[in-house]
Amino acid sequence: MIGTANGVRVSITGLGCHVPERVVTNDELSTMMDTSDEWIRERTGIRERRIAAPEEALSDLCLPAARQALEEAGIGAEQIDLIIVATVTPDMAFPSTGAILADQLGAENAAAYDLSAGCTGFMYAVAQGYGMLAGGLAQKALVVGGDVLSKILDWSDRGTAVLFGDGAGAIVLERVADGGFLGFELGADGSGGPQLYLPGGGSRSPATEESVAERLHFVKMNGREVFKFATRVLVSSAESVLAECGLTIEDVDVYVPHQANVRIIEHARQRLGIPEEKTVIDVDRYGNTSSGSIPLALADAKADGRLEKGKLVLMTGMGAGLTWGSGLIEWTDGGMG
Ligand code: ACO
Repeated sequence: MIGTANGVRVSITGLGCHVPERVVTNDELSTMMDTSDEWIRERTGIRERRIAAPEEALSDLCLPAARQALEEAGIGAEQIDLIIVATVTPDMAFPSTGAILADQLGAENAAAYDLSAGCTGFMYAVAQGYGMLAGGLAQKALVVGGDVLSKILDWSDRGTAVLFGDGAGAIVLERVADGGFLGFELGADGSGGPQLYLPGGGSRSPATEESVAERLHFVKMNGREVFKFATRVLVSSAESVLAECGLTIEDVDVYVPHQANVRIIEHARQRLGIPEEKTVIDVDRYGNTSSGSIPLALADAKADGRLEKGKLVLMTGMGAGLTWGSGLIEWTDGGMG
């Protein structure tokens, strides 16, 4: 799916994020499994990640992020008429974390639901929020991306356990007079599903003694295949959305790729020809936070002053599905009220 904004202007008017308090370093992980700080840093660029407390669930991370985003947008929860939470680790199968969050916020006028597109979830949710606003179905949307992957990792599998972390980010979408989203490109290749999946707990392999014994309720990944896929789609998706919008890589001021691995980001950045100083990297501090990754990176770029009005921001996510998605936005500094 690919398309441009066709003159309907919708932008990010509020941004917030939240990560658990507990920092887990590579050295700490190497006391739990056969790994080392050197291996993890060399192969992934990750130095540490945040890990949720046993009682902490996704909505506990989403709520402070959402409150921050609403505050920045200067609007009350009752003004929100759409909440989308992108995640693969909802509080529970149902009700949706979107509905739970709406209740916690007091967003009583909002439609609320979850969206599952792996680590691309945030980009899918932003595009969907954009479409709802551009089509006139909603006026003010809260889009949240977050995951608590530590709860579904197999901590005996060093090939996956060292890569991920927990975190969430939230944005408010509103119609604006100028700037805002220019276009999106989203895709999925379900034939690659078995490269990165969690087979247990659904209707194919419900929770039974056998499925639990077979450890089907944990993330399984073919790291090398995902690496190849990631480097390919980060480049092709970015090039497609830029071409669709009649722009080139030189027009991009800030590049926000999914934070899975520094080597993947470096590979894509070099192939695309984007200078290092335009690329946002925080995977060293957070690991791969799945749906939280792009909004957390946006918040970092905002904090260091890179997201100024008029800047062209390119975001690209990729992940389980296998899925990918890009969005281009001309940054604005507020809504129309
Ligand atoms: N510590 C130490 N050694 C390890 C570890 C570890 N944590 N994990 C694997 N190894 C070993 C392997 O067993 C292997 O040993 P062997 O040679 O004796 O068999 C060796 O290190 C090399 O393993 P490879 O898998 O070949 O290492 P590679 O260079 O491919 O790096 C990695 C592995 C980091 C997982 C890489 O493939 C990768 O980043 N893939 C993409 C993963 C990813 O980003 N997934 C998520 C994207 S989508 C989403 O965000 C949900």
